[in-house]
Amino acid sequence: MKIITSTIKCRTALQLARSSHQRIAFVPTMGNLHDGHLRLVQEAKQIADCVVVSIFVNPLQFGVGEDFERYPRTETEDQAKLKAAGVDVLFQPSVSDIITPNMHTVVSVKGLSDLHCGAFRPGHFDGVATIVCKLFNIVQPHTALFGLKDFQQLAIIRAMVNELNIPVQLIGIETVREDDGLAMSSRNDYLTGKERAIAPLLYQTLCTARTAVQNGAQNYHEIERQAVADLTQAGFQVDYFTICRYDNLQKAHADDHELVILTAARLGKTRLIDNLEVHR
Ligand code: PAF
Repeated sequence: MKIITSTIKCRTALQLARSSHQRIAFVPTMGNLHDGHLRLVQEAKQIADCVVVSIFVNPLQFGVGEDFERYPRTETEDQAKLKAAGVDVLFQPSVSDIITPNMHTVVSVKGLSDLHCGAFRPGHFDGVATIVCKLFNIVQPHTALFGLKDFQQLAIIRAMVNELNIPVQLIGIETVREDDGLAMSSRNDYLTGKERAIAPLLYQTLCTARTAVQNGAQNYHEIERQAVADLTQAGFQVDYFTICRYDNLQKAHADDHELVILTAARLGKTRLIDNLEVHR
């Protein structure tokens, strides 16, 4: 596995791969890799000759008072996992290589970025879209893979790619879960033992809501209210629990058929997100 830490060297290495007609698949990450990330790598290996993973803890997507400083940085373990998974190139730039001083440009996917998580984390998705756009321009992959756990993130990146004509094919990969249903996330490491025992309730509550919708319940507001009440009772502070249209993430109506239930809730200092698609 080639480890590249500079933007210029990354460009040169991948231009070489491209000119020898290799297909490049790209998995952007912030490190602290778990099986969810490795699933993305496995899928990437199926479809490409050259698999590139980036590790970059992106300061632009953390708000004031969020966990940028304490975000787990596990470089040695991450490198070993990626090497064992057969990754060809690890791009691990420094902050100063990516975030130029006095940056003027922000990629803002308006209308999608201020919903749901965006309402609770102002500026977060602008930070994500800006950095992903930069990484796409540096790596210039044929395909990029993202986890569906971050459903809203992928919807925003999809809109950006379509509307800015970025020539990248996007693939969303199913959320990988622990045996008890908890969606894998780098932030699960923050949970105390007690919180970890409660955490799977987020997924269970999504499953209960999905069953109600699939069984024909139409009062979405009541399903959402009950879910928030159940989670709050168990010790969560719920940011939102919303039944949305799958295509535009707006609140769903009773006659919509392609839905996604999105939720974010905090347990102590840890913010968890999860979602479930519903087709009815
Ligand atoms: O999902 C993540 O890990 C990050 O938001 C991403 C896509 C790597 C951008 O920093």
